[in-house]
Amino acid sequence: MIQPDFTSLPVLDKPLEQISQDELTAFGDAASALIDQMSDERDLQQLRVNLTGKKSALTALSKQMGTLDAELKKQYGAYLHTLRTRLGEALDNKSEQLAKAALDAKLASEQIDISLPARGIAKGGLHPITQTTERMKQFFVQAGFSVATGPEVESDYYNFEALNIPSHHPARAMHDTFYFDAHYLLRTHTSGVQIRTMQDSQPPIRIICPGRVYRCDSDQTHSPMFHQMEGLMISKSSNFAELKGLIHEFLNAFFGKQMTVRFRPSFFPFTEPSAEVDILSDSGKWLEVLGCGMVHPQVLKNCGIDPDEYTGFAFGLGIERFAMLYYGIDDLRLFFQNDLRFLRQFG
Ligand code: PHE
Repeated sequence: MIQPDFTSLPVLDKPLEQISQDELTAFGDAASALIDQMSDERDLQQLRVNLTGKKSALTALSKQMGTLDAELKKQYGAYLHTLRTRLGEALDNKSEQLAKAALDAKLASEQIDISLPARGIAKGGLHPITQTTERMKQFFVQAGFSVATGPEVESDYYNFEALNIPSHHPARAMHDTFYFDAHYLLRTHTSGVQIRTMQDSQPPIRIICPGRVYRCDSDQTHSPMFHQMEGLMISKSSNFAELKGLIHEFLNAFFGKQMTVRFRPSFFPFTEPSAEVDILSDSGKWLEVLGCGMVHPQVLKNCGIDPDEYTGFAFGLGIERFAMLYYGIDDLRLFFQNDLRFLRQFG
């Protein structure tokens, strides 16, 4: 910013008729030079006031016009008019110049360089357990099942009693239950959702129940919280062959190839007959992946369904186990450590 320096201007404090045309022209030259030095609009305005305003030397001279005789009046009138016009034009030009320079600077500073690299967007991804659950759901939903959910804090009745596991039953020991008190616990499986569904709706029923379950157990292949997906089908004609076909199709779809599958007799209090399902691994080993069976008539009765009219089958699997087999992961705990180096591989 250059403050106007008026010391460079000739002083015009003589009576008007003693001032020559050359002196006025020299004043105009000096004033123009001063105007030209201005780099700021506010300083320029200040200069305009000082050069042409009410208290300017020019205005003071104009006020003396009345004292001149006609001849001089005409002459000085023309001189002063020329000077005022010259200063006005110089000020206007400079003002325009400054406005244009300001606009150019603004445009230059606001220019966007579209060749610069973009700021990256950090993308999240679904957890491998979520992805696995979604793939499972997709298969069963296409097969006509709907998704049912229920509470994770479950009552003893829904988690055990209604499923034909009374309090003295040894099967309770298999569940390593987290109890809150004598009545409430963290569900050890999602089978309680099946009971609730059977009590609340009329057959035919076709549901899957994915969700978190809890067992007091922790090592490389067990975690105190894990995910299960159970399925239930109740109709007038459900049978074991249908169960076998559905499970086999599911396993083929899940692993994306024709699987060799074995149904091995087993025991669950809530199904009869019961089976465990093994798949043959690439290394020739049988791997247990799932439990299933025909819903026990007592369980149907507990839910108000007549076992003479309806039959049903159920199955249950651990989602982590399927994810481990599918992705080739050998330690279950990796799923719960939230290590981004692990999780990013599933983006
Ligand atoms: N509820 C059983 C479990 O968690 C799994 C299962 C479900 C087995 C349905 C058979 C039928 O161990």
